[in-house]
Amino acid sequence: MNNPAKPGGLLGDTAARDYSGKLRLFNAFAEPEIRRAIAGLGLTRGMRVLDAGCGTGETLGWLSGEVGAEGGVIGIDLAGAHVASARAMAPANALVMQADLTVLPFAPGSFDLVWSVNTFNHLRDPLAGATLAASLLRPGGRIALGQSSLLPDMYFAWDSRLERLVNEAVRQYYRDRYQLDERDLAAVRSLVGLLRAAGLRNVTAQTVAIERLSPVRPEDERYLVETIFRDSWGERLRPYLSGEDYEALERLCDPGHADFALHRPDFHFLQTFTLTVGEVSV
Ligand SMILES: C[S@@+](CC[C@H](N)C(=O)[O-])C[C@H]1O[C@@H](n2cnc3c(N)ncnc32)[C@H](O)[C@@H]1O
Repeated sequence: MNNPAKPGGLLGDTAARDYSGKLRLFNAFAEPEIRRAIAGLGLTRGMRVLDAGCGTGETLGWLSGEVGAEGGVIGIDLAGAHVASARAMAPANALVMQADLTVLPFAPGSFDLVWSVNTFNHLRDPLAGATLAASLLRPGGRIALGQSSLLPDMYFAWDSRLERLVNEAVRQYYRDRYQLDERDLAAVRSLVGLLRAAGLRNVTAQTVAIERLSPVRPEDERYLVETIFRDSWGERLRPYLSGEDYEALERLCDPGHADFALHRPDFHFLQTFTLTVGEVSV
């Protein structure tokens, strides 16, 4: 299980960590699905929203569009570099603060909604985080926790064997790098229980597929090539695959190679995004 002696969050987050490039690419890629998830929340003008773990801040503008100038959005994030990026793109009615979401400086009842995507799985004590977030809500206010699957559910539609071996290699890499076991890498399974354990009621969960077929949009290609093919896989997987499988993976991931996966007519990508919502008692 996770190693509490290791400094920083479960996945190595600290105030000095910077993966803002990866976050910008993810948000450009998943923008259609995340905006639909936000639109489905039924936010109304004048509401106050906290984005806990706002990263590079793309969501601040999407949330702010729902609550209007008469409402307000606050984004908080642990990492100084992420906060700087978020501030640079925050709309006029959004405030961005560098803060740890497990020790937030807000009065009880300050918000109508706490929104948080792909962040609670970075916390060593997600229940403490969810309990604190719940205490910041007005009666009837909601927490919405979004989580994309750690690994895409399908990316090499034509080769399930290589896809399985790559998935196992990625999981082993994460276990070795962060001293985690497989239960720590299955965040989506914990969301419903987490919200209920934090005392929230009327908990709902909805999972959508982020689905892309070739030819993909330029923002999809950038995310898939730079964030997944190069940074999540790439050299770091070499020790976990046979030479032959690693070379096959390299060819599929290389935009200059004739075998490049995204140029195949059978390229079909699926990744789930789950949004769980819970409400505090009135
Ligand atoms: C995977 S990113 C997701 C960012 C953003 N929500 C998005 O969807 O692009 C996780 C974010 O949580 C932040 N984070 C991790 N632990 C945190 C903590 N204890 N308090 C506040 N932010 C934290 C990280 O700095 C990072 O920006």
